[in-house]
Amino acid sequence: MALKTINPTTTKAWRKLQVHFKAIEHKHLKELFASHQNRANDMTLKWDDFYIDYSKHRITKETLDLLIELANEVDLKDAMNKYFGGVVINQTEGREVLHTALRNSENAEVFVNQKNVMPEIFEVKNKIKNFSNNVIDGALKSYTNKAFTDIVNIGIGGSDLGPAMVVDSLAYYKNHLTTHFVSNVDGDHVNEVIKKLNPETTLFVIVSKTFTTQETLSNANTIREWFLKNAPQSAISKHFVAVSTNIEKVKDFGIDEDNIFPMWNWVGGRFSLWSAVGLSISLAVGFDNFDKLLIGAHKMDEHFKSEDFDKNIPVITALLSVWYNNFFNAESEAVIPYSQYLNQFATYLQQGIMESNGKSIDRNGDKVNYQTGTIIWGEPGTNSQHAFFQLIHQGTKLIPAEFIGFAQSLHGNQDHQDKLMSNFFAQTEALMNGKSKATVLEELKAQSLSEEKMKELTPFKVFEGNKPTTTILIKKLTPESLGKLIAMYEHKIFVQGIIWNIFSYDQFGVELGKQLANTILKELQSENVINNHDSSTQSLIEYYQSLD
Ligand code: F6P
Repeated sequence: MALKTINPTTTKAWRKLQVHFKAIEHKHLKELFASHQNRANDMTLKWDDFYIDYSKHRITKETLDLLIELANEVDLKDAMNKYFGGVVINQTEGREVLHTALRNSENAEVFVNQKNVMPEIFEVKNKIKNFSNNVIDGALKSYTNKAFTDIVNIGIGGSDLGPAMVVDSLAYYKNHLTTHFVSNVDGDHVNEVIKKLNPETTLFVIVSKTFTTQETLSNANTIREWFLKNAPQSAISKHFVAVSTNIEKVKDFGIDEDNIFPMWNWVGGRFSLWSAVGLSISLAVGFDNFDKLLIGAHKMDEHFKSEDFDKNIPVITALLSVWYNNFFNAESEAVIPYSQYLNQFATYLQQGIMESNGKSIDRNGDKVNYQTGTIIWGEPGTNSQHAFFQLIHQGTKLIPAEFIGFAQSLHGNQDHQDKLMSNFFAQTEALMNGKSKATVLEELKAQSLSEEKMKELTPFKVFEGNKPTTTILIKKLTPESLGKLIAMYEHKIFVQGIIWNIFSYDQFGVELGKQLANTILKELQSENVINNHDSSTQSLIEYYQSLD
C-alpha cells in the first residue's frame, strides 16, 4: 500500500527527455511559436474562472508528452489514489495526508483507521462557525463585558503563514476586527503587537499542532503574563482559545477544554489552514468566506483528481517545474502575483514548497543523484519590476516564473487596473521575445547618437529573451478563487514529490537547529559556560555574552 519507490532517472521517459532536451535546449521561444500555429490555444488550460497559459515555455508537444509519460511511469495516478484515499503516504512519520478531507463535502466518506472522519471535521467546522459568529456580532463578550475588537494569532510556520497570508489576501472581505499575527521568538515582535492592544477587548488564538513549539509557547506565556497584569486569572477563559492536537498540553497551559479547537495528526502544519488553524481567517472575514475558501480548494481537488494529465493544472505546472529543475538545471522559480493583496503569497509558498520537497534522500532511503526541491521566491508586481526584474531579464540565471493576475480589480479603479494588467502582459511578452540588436540600433539611431556611442551601448541594451513564464489569469480575487489557487500549489508540491521519489510530508530538516538552540539557550542562561562548540560558534557566544 505504500507509495511506489521508482527512481525517476531510471525510467524510459527520463532517458527520452534527456535526448529530447539536447534537441530543444537552444531553441528560442520565438522559433517555437513560429513553428506551432495554434500554440497559445493548444497550451492554455481554461477551467472555471482560471485561464492558464503555459505556451511561453521552452517546450514542444513532444516535451509535454514525454513529461506525462514520466508521470505515468512513476505511477502518479496510483499515488494520487493513495493520497486522497487516506493511505499512510507520510511514511516516515506514519501518517495519512488528508488536508483534502477538510474541504470535502459533509456527505463524503474519508476513512482513517476504518473510521469516517467527516463527522468530526464538520463538528469542528460548526464550532468554528458558532464561535466566529459570536465574536463578530459581539454576542461573545470580554471579561469586562465588551465586544472584542482585536484578534491575535500566536503561532509559527504552518500555524502562522497560511492564516496570515489568507487574512492579508482577503483584506477586501474583512470585517471590523483587527487581526494581528505574532510568530517570531524575537521579543520585539510580540512587544510591538502588545503595544497596540487593549487587554479588555482582545482575543488570543494560540495555534500549535504540537503545543511544544518554543516560539509559540514563549509568545503565549509573555502575552498571558502581560494580560494578567491587567486582568484577573478568571478572565483567561474568556480571552484565550487554542488550536492543537495536544489537548493535555493546552489544558496544562490553563485553557478551558471548551476553548480548544482540535486538529488531527493527518493534517500537516503547512497544509493546515483549512482546519481550525484557519480560525483567525474565519474571525477576520467571517465563516461564510472561510467556507468559500474551502469550497474553492475542494473544486481544485476534484479537478486534480479527475482531469486527464494533459489538462490537469497541478500536473502540468508540476511537470514544467521538473523540466526546468532537472533538465535545464534552473536553480530557482519565481512567483509574481500582480495583486498587492497577495503580498505574502511567496513567503507562504516558501514553507509549503521548500519544507515539503527540500529533501535529498529518496523513498528507498538512498541519497538522490538528481535535483529535488526548487527554491521559490517572489514579490508582487509591479513593485518587483523595480527590484529584481533586471536579473530575470538580463542576468545569467534561468528563472522560470509564474505570473498570477486577476482580471477584475476589487475596488474597481479601471485606470489603475489597466495599468497593472498592461505590465502583467508586457512582462511575460518582454521576457519571451527580448529585444534584438537590430531593434536596439534602430532605437539608438532615433536618439541621434553617434555611431561610436551606438556601438558602445548596444550590447547592454540587448535582451536575449527566451525566459519562460506561466500566466495564471483569474477572473477575480475571491475567497473561492484563492482557495483554488492555494490547493493548486498544494497538489503541485505533491506531484513533484512523487516524481522525485521523496517523502514530501515530513520535515526532519528543521530539527537539528532546534536541538542545538536548546543546548545553547541552557548555556546562555546558566553561569557555567560549556565549552563544547567549534571555535567559531564558541567565539560568537562569548562575544555576545561579553556585550551584556
Ligand atoms: O517548522 C517546523 C514546523 O514543525 C512546521 O512544520 C510547523 O508548521 C511549525 O513548525 C509549527 O508547529 P506547531 O504547529 O506544532 O507549533
